Order: sequence, then C-alpha cells, then structure tokens
Amino acid sequence: MRFRLTAILAASLLCSAAHAETGAEGWLRYARITDPAVLQRYSGLPGRIVVLGNSPADQTIAQSAATELQRGLSSMLGRTFTISGEVPDNGNAIILANLSTLNKAFTISGDKLTPDAYTFVPRNEGNSKSYIILGGDPRGELYGAFRLLDLVGTQQPLPAKPTTESPSSPIRWVNQWDNLDGTIERGYGGRSIFFDDGHVRPNLTRVAEYGRLLASIGINGVTVNNVNSNLRTLEPDMILEFARIADQLRPWGVRMSLSVDLSSPQVVGHLPTFDPVDPTVIAWWQSKVDEMYKAIPDFAGFVIKADSEGRVGPSQYHRTPAEAANTVARALKPHDGLVLYRGFVYNNHLDYNDLKADRARAGYDNFQALDGKFESNVVIQVKHGPIDFQVREPVSPLFAALPHTSQAIELQVTQEYTGQQRHMVFLVPMWKTMLDTDLRAGGRSTPVKEIVEGKSFHQPLGGFVGVANVGLDTNWLHHSMAMANLYGFGKLAWNPNLSSEQIIDSWTRLTWGNDPKVVSTIDDLQLHSWHAYEQYTGNLGIGTLTNILGYHFGPGIESAERNGWGQWFRGDDKGIGMDRTTATGTGYIGQYPPELAKLYENLATCPDDLLLFMHHVPYTHVLRDRKTVVHYVYDAHYEGAATAQTYGPRWQSLKGFVDNDRYEQTLKLFTYQAGHAIVWRDAVTKWFQKESNIPDKQGRVGNYPNRIEAENMTAEGYTPIDVKFWETASNSKAAVCNQTSSCTLTTKVDKPAGTYNITVQYFDFWSGKSHFTLDLNGNPIGNWLADDILPPVRQDLHPDGETSTRITFPNIALKPGDSLTLHGTPDNTEPAPVDYVEITPAQ
Ligand code: GCU
Repeated sequence: MRFRLTAILAASLLCSAAHAETGAEGWLRYARITDPAVLQRYSGLPGRIVVLGNSPADQTIAQSAATELQRGLSSMLGRTFTISGEVPDNGNAIILANLSTLNKAFTISGDKLTPDAYTFVPRNEGNSKSYIILGGDPRGELYGAFRLLDLVGTQQPLPAKPTTESPSSPIRWVNQWDNLDGTIERGYGGRSIFFDDGHVRPNLTRVAEYGRLLASIGINGVTVNNVNSNLRTLEPDMILEFARIADQLRPWGVRMSLSVDLSSPQVVGHLPTFDPVDPTVIAWWQSKVDEMYKAIPDFAGFVIKADSEGRVGPSQYHRTPAEAANTVARALKPHDGLVLYRGFVYNNHLDYNDLKADRARAGYDNFQALDGKFESNVVIQVKHGPIDFQVREPVSPLFAALPHTSQAIELQVTQEYTGQQRHMVFLVPMWKTMLDTDLRAGGRSTPVKEIVEGKSFHQPLGGFVGVANVGLDTNWLHHSMAMANLYGFGKLAWNPNLSSEQIIDSWTRLTWGNDPKVVSTIDDLQLHSWHAYEQYTGNLGIGTLTNILGYHFGPGIESAERNGWGQWFRGDDKGIGMDRTTATGTGYIGQYPPELAKLYENLATCPDDLLLFMHHVPYTHVLRDRKTVVHYVYDAHYEGAATAQTYGPRWQSLKGFVDNDRYEQTLKLFTYQAGHAIVWRDAVTKWFQKESNIPDKQGRVGNYPNRIEAENMTAEGYTPIDVKFWETASNSKAAVCNQTSSCTLTTKVDKPAGTYNITVQYFDFWSGKSHFTLDLNGNPIGNWLADDILPPVRQDLHPDGETSTRITFPNIALKPGDSLTLHGTPDNTEPAPVDYVEITPAQ
C-alpha cells in the first residue's frame, strides 16, 4: 500500500547535539546513545519518516511531529532519518497519521482514539518494517512522536504490540502570571518570554521553544498573562499583538488563552457598567469574543479572577460568580472556547479577632451553592488547598462540593511558598498526595484526581492547570532541578496515576543522562526534597512560616498573624494552630464529606501532618511519634536543615558525570540552600522556644557556641541595628556600614589550634554589590561580592530572613589568638550588612 505525503518537506537533517549544556533544552536534550546494546534495541526503526496528508491547518502540527522525530532520533541514534513524501515500496517507514488522514481500508487497531490520544502500531511483515503513530487528531500524532522519543531517551524498549495512550482529561494548561511590562508575578526565572515594555516582544523565539517543551509533556493550553490581568488586555491593538504569540504556539498544538478582568466592558468598552446580566454587557462580550476569534481562530478561552485580592467582580452588582462566568461562557461557546473561573475568591480583610473567621472556608462558601448553575463550557479552577499553595495543606473541600460542575485543579509549578527556585523542592510527591486524597463524596470513592478528570461526577470537562511562570533565564526556571516540576506537572496531567518515582526517573534520565549513579543520586535528592523543605519551614500543617507580607521566601513567622489575610495559625504562649473543628472552631472541617470530616474533627484521628491546620493544641500536645508538638518542631527543623547540608556533597559526587556548566550552577544553588535552611531552622525554632517558653531538650535552639555575632566584634565603622523580624537574624541584630569607605569587624580566635571552616553570614540586597574581604592575621582568606540575585531582593532592602545568605571558607588552619578581620565596603544602598561569623571544626 502506498501513502502520499502532502506535507512540505523539512529543509534539512538536524545534526546531533554537539552543544554546550545550558539547560535550555530542558528534558529534550536528545543525548547520543553510545552503548551498542541499547542502540540495537532501536535498530528496527526505519530511517524514513512519513506524514500522511492533513488539512493545511493541521499540517503544521503533524509537521512538527515529523521534524521532532527526525531531530531526536538522529541525535540519539546517530544515524540519518529523513522526512520523505512517500512510503517506499518496501514499506519501511515511521508513519505519522491520524484518524482523518488514514485510509479507511487500512485498519490499524480496534482501539477507539479520543482527541490527543495515540496508538503505536509496530508492523513487521516480511521485509517490510513500519512503525505507525496513529493520533486521534494531529495533536495525538505529536504526542505519540514525543512519547516515542521519550522511550528512546530513557532507553526503554518500544512497544512490540499495538499500544494506545490517552490523556486523563481535556484541560492540560499552564498559566503564566506574566505582566505586559515584562515582569512576572511570582516568577523566579527571569523576565517574561512574552512581553516587554507594555507589548508583546518583537522576538518570540523563546515562545516557540516553550510551546515545544510543553507539547512534549502533553500540555495543550497556555494562559499567557497574569491572573491579575492588565486592564488593557482586551484592547483591539493588544488582541492583535497576542495573536503573534498564538502563532508561535500553534505548531505545537498549544492553544493560547488570556486572563481577563471582569470590568473590561467598562474599562475597554466604555460602557457605564460591567454588570454581567446587563444586555449591553452581554453584547459587548459577544462582540469582543468574535473579534478575538477573528484574530486567533484557535483561541482557547478566558481565565477569570474576580472578587479576590482587589480584583473587581460580580459581587459589585450583587451577582454571583455563575452569572458572571455564564455571560462570558455563552459568548465563547459557539467558538469552542472555555471559561476557567477561579475558585480563589476570598476576603483579604478578615477580622483576626473573630474566632469564626476563616479564609479556608471561602472557596466552598462562595461556590458550593452554585453547583449546577454554570454553563457547560465553564470550568471552576480550584487551587489544590483551601489557602494558597502552602508547603502542606489539606485538599480543598470544594472539589467534593461541585458534583454538577466541571473542575480543574490548580497546582503551582513556580515555587512561590516553596523556595522560589533557590531551594530544590520536587513538588510531584505533594501533588500526588493531593490527587490521591479520597474525598469520599457521597460515601463512595472519589479521589481528587478522578474528580478533576471528570470521572467521579461524569463531567464533560476537567483537568489540570499549572502556574508555571517560566522566564527568560536560559534554563527557564533558574534552578536546574525545578524543571522536574514542570515536567512532572505535564506527566501527571496526562496520567495522574504515574508515581513520583516513575516521573523523576524519566526526567533525570532525559535531563542528566542514563548513568546509574547519576540517576540514583538525582532521583534520591529530588524525591525527598519536599519532606526536607517542610521540615525546615513549617511543620504539622501550620503553613510555610514565611514572611507573607514580603516575598513569601524567607522566614517571617508572625507576619501571618493579626492581619486581614487570614493565613493565621493563632500562636500564643499556651498553644498553636487554627481550630477549624465544627465543635468549637470555624466549622471548616464540616465542609468535607462526612467520613473525612470525622477523621479531621477528632484529635485522635487527625493526621499529624495536618494537625495545626485543623486544631489548636498546647505545645505539649503529644504526637503519634510520642514527641510533643514543640519538640517535634525543634527536631524536624534540625533534621530538615541537616538534610539540606547533604545536597552539595551528594551533588559533588557527580562531578565529571554531568556537564560542568550545569554542575557548577546547581552546586552553587545547593550551597545557597544549605545556608538558607539554617536561617529558616534558627528563625522558626527560636520563635517556638520564645513563644512556648519550653527549651529545646537538646539545648540546640538559641545556643550557637561557634558563632561570633557581628555586633559583638570589634567594629570600625560598623554599627549594630535591630533586625525585623527579630528571629531572622542571630541575636536579632546585624551590623551595617553606613559610610562610603569600608568598615571592619575584628575578632580574636578563641579555639584550640586546628583546622576550621569559617562562615560569614551576611545580607545581600539587589540594590548594591557590597565587597567583602576576610583576613586572617592581615592575610586575605577570601574576598567576594554580595551580588547574588535572590528572588525577593529586588525590592527588599532590609537585613532579614529573605536577604540573609552566607559564604564558607573551608579548611582554614587557626590557633588561639589569631586575628580575623572582615572588611565590608558598601555599594549603593547596600551597607555591607553582616549577621555573624561562625568557626566550626572541619570534618
Ligand atoms: C497568591 C499569590 C498572588 C496571586 C494569587 C492568585 O496569593 O501570592 O500573587 O495573585 O495567589 O492565585 O491569584
């Protein structure tokens, strides 16, 4: 049988990946396989790639599949793959087809293919060897091509029998919180790839590369602008600019969507109102949507944040979210567009003194009564937990409360409360915990993953939204390890039943190589990183104890209390935790279906890791491991921070096993993380000790015998200042140099002769690059610039838990009476701030 190729032929064969490793390729490195036994596994793959005819619109996607196969297979297998117009007479070809392009007479398999799904059909007839990738649609062809490359890249055998894979759900989107000015809200990997200076960037090369990365993990939609949407978003000239982004994503089967503000009819349309039931408003949305589809025929729809954190919404007209969502959805429906209306609606001016006030209740309270009232193309986008992406939260009870409404789970790839891509935190195990939670709605099995897949309640739509926030950093997310979260998000959205181990294993192999030592080291580092981060930030469901009024990065424990944001944990000298019981608390627990509500309500059955989320208990409350709450907190922080100290040395065991550039960058970040974990550990444990008045049994907390506080050193020019929050600096003080010339801090060594590591704990703001030199008896040990680009420090000009960092000089020979002098030279508004010097025996 002969197939005709109607495709435009790819220009040339892309040659193998002889390039420097920057991380730009993410997991699509296509590293050359050299092991003959492994190569042999793929020797049966024909060298010709054929695309069966597609309509012109679909052709680009199928063509992407073909060129990607050519690029990846040539690079990995080191032989020539060509894209050809026809299947050769002997039939040997990799054939890309989809249901509409397939000759009906040619029955491939009995499987029913849904959109985006694909079937691999290996055929081996006489001398003819073909490998058919049959998609349910062109996107299915593309996903099949990427899957085949994934199998080769991870050195797995290709299926020998027809094999079908299909995605869990139709919505597999990422949200980018990019602003038109080029900044990214909660973005930690550089500036926007989409926007700059109020416009879409002239050069969108990175957008196309992003589309490719996303397609490779099955993502089919991107919302490109901040949920806190710029009011110009729906201006006609902006729509035309956005169309340029959609053009870059289209070849990768990724549809673009936009976040919109509900006041647009008024602000952009100059109507007197934006009341969603007003006929002029309804008409405005209809004509705006028509305009949208003229510019972007495959536009995916709108994401709406309303009545939340200062965004206006239907409440202004005493209308419901359903009324607002439906007006927009009706306009989109004829075009196949969706509304993703965010369930993140809450009042951020809650009264702390009201013991019944509870932000966690808000999602359910605002949406439960609206169940079944939404148009069929509305999806409620629900954050995984009821607060806001904390290091540990229970799953949102809203998922169980909307059986007649399509829902998507919102997961946060960008590590807002989880270390901002300066800490390695592999989030897939956390997401799995959420997705696997069985809410037991109606007394039957309803795990969150099945609810959002639309399975539990037989909903037509549903899925997964990941807040990704990649940026212009060459490696997209700043930390090489953070890309595992983007990869893992896509993999889970495709198949939430994959295990964390499976996901990290394939990510590591594709990103770093298949060497067993590399794979086991990186898998192990990543798999336990969430646990360690939770240990040294916020335990027992208390939330990430970060500065919630700052940048959500470093510690700032009491910032969560006594304000309207409602991230409270209600700590005082007697006890700690939010009482969310139905018996005596806010009643939040009653929002869960009865079986789960009973489990959480009862102190004896409530899981320890959610204890302080659900209950207020004394510090002496005894946990299942027989430790009291306060001692658990001390121990967990010391254990977590100790784990972080191992990351650097474990990584160093891979020197020479991975490329040097990525090795060095990652080592630097692990070194930073180890230091910042100590800042976290000390802040939280000191706060607990002070608040509870219960000393650490092991005497660690507040007792740092190897430290010399900056304010206790002999100063020339340096002056002591109080640090806010007090717990974020050792002894609550820093020394600053408020003069243009350098200042010095000197101390006499009071240690037995020996070899020591000397650490300087200092503060690094973006506003300057202070210069430091450390001298021993007048001879320099080292000098450095405080020039790190810690995520919050762009605006944070204070010595605190967000700007605190350190440098260590290992293996320095010291003897009693030696003189150590630190010279700090301020730069701009950075006064060369120092916290302490620590001298610890070298191992
Ligand atoms: C968090 C985050 C905000 C964001 C909001 C949202 O509160 O800090 O920056 O706008 O979530 O999801 O809408």
